[in-house]
Amino acid sequence: MTAPALRLLCLAGSARSGALSVRLRDAAARVAQTLGAQTTMLDLRALQLPLYDGDLEAAHGVPDAARQLRDAIAAHDALLLVTPEYNGFPTPLVINAFDWLSRLPAGEGAPSGVIVTANKPTALLSISPGAIGGLRAMNYLRQYLQMSFGMLVVPRQHAVGHAHDVLDGQGVFKDEKAEQAVRAVVQGLLRVAGALRDPA
Ligand SMILES: Cc1cc2nc3c(=O)[nH]c(=O)nc-3n(C[C@H](O)[C@H](O)[C@H](O)COP(=O)(O)O)c2cc1C
Repeated sequence: MTAPALRLLCLAGSARSGALSVRLRDAAARVAQTLGAQTTMLDLRALQLPLYDGDLEAAHGVPDAARQLRDAIAAHDALLLVTPEYNGFPTPLVINAFDWLSRLPAGEGAPSGVIVTANKPTALLSISPGAIGGLRAMNYLRQYLQMSFGMLVVPRQHAVGHAHDVLDGQGVFKDEKAEQAVRAVVQGLLRVAGALRDPA
């Protein structure tokens, strides 16, 4: 009997129209589909999480949208996250969503936010029009997700620099080497996710 497809949740750190990170996320998801994975795109902006504020949390609790994020992560075998770089850092859209997730306690039969992220196989990509492709942001994001969320961030990652020379407006790769590098990241992620889900 063949194993069911691995379920991959794909996130981008920007949601603006024409975002490079969305283009790369979608391109990487297509690669994952060719490798047999089932992909889901989650738009972090659509969650409409307010900027984290302790007073807001004290008054109203953690917004339901954080539960949506938790449940989406729980329902998938692995995560793929593509980050842009703002002044060397991952974007507030990503950090704010995960900060809220970290505040979600267990309750109503559901686990806490950080229990759901623990040991979840995750791969990172970054993208920028600049030469180093958001590498600094990606490395901070790796540390953040590993240290605070216990995520199993796979070793292989790739920073796509000179983005406009690498992906066209439809998110099709113009650069074969970059496509191969992204494929290697996705392959590594699916291998780890498969081994964890279906141990021999
Ligand atoms: C506030 C801000 C800071 C930025 N800082 C960096 C940076 O540190 N390194 C970099 O390569 N690009 C930087 N950029 C340019 C982004 O890489 C570029 O706007 C990119 O298209 C954003 O990602 P997106 O297309 O997915 O929205 C910055 C852009 C903004 C708006």
